[in-house]
Amino acid sequence: MLTIAEKEQIEHEIRQVPVKKAACIEALKIVQGHRRWVSDEGIRDVADILEMSPEEVDSVATFYNLIFRQPVGRHIILLCDSISCYVMGLRALHQQLVQLLGIQYGQTTPDGRFTLLPNPCLGTCDHAPALMVDDDLYRDLSADDLEAILAKYT
Ligand code: FES
Repeated sequence: MLTIAEKEQIEHEIRQVPVKKAACIEALKIVQGHRRWVSDEGIRDVADILEMSPEEVDSVATFYNLIFRQPVGRHIILLCDSISCYVMGLRALHQQLVQLLGIQYGQTTPDGRFTLLPNPCLGTCDHAPALMVDDDLYRDLSADDLEAILAKYT
């Protein structure tokens, strides 16, 4: 069930758009902002408030790669896997991350600290290779930078 805070925030978004379903992405982001991911129940709750079918909401949720449909860690690492980063050393970064974290793409560390995901171009190709941790963008990376970056996130 949506909390009062979630409902109020979603209703605020609904008032900004001409039809309820246009608030779908924002509603999903609100639920995810409170819970870190969007469960099947969350999909149904968003569908109810937006007068959509759960299938419609789920199709929006699964289209956007930053809406998580399964539990994720406290911090999300998005490693750019597009061409500029590939040319500039993605493979070494990826290998080092896998070694430091002990997980593969799509997995979460056993302590729930990090989830590692591939991501299409992060829009900073002239400073490749790049990754994001939560909202923080790191550019011009080498594998040697990663340990210090990860240490910032508990
Ligand atoms: S290819 Fe990695 S930032 Fe564009």
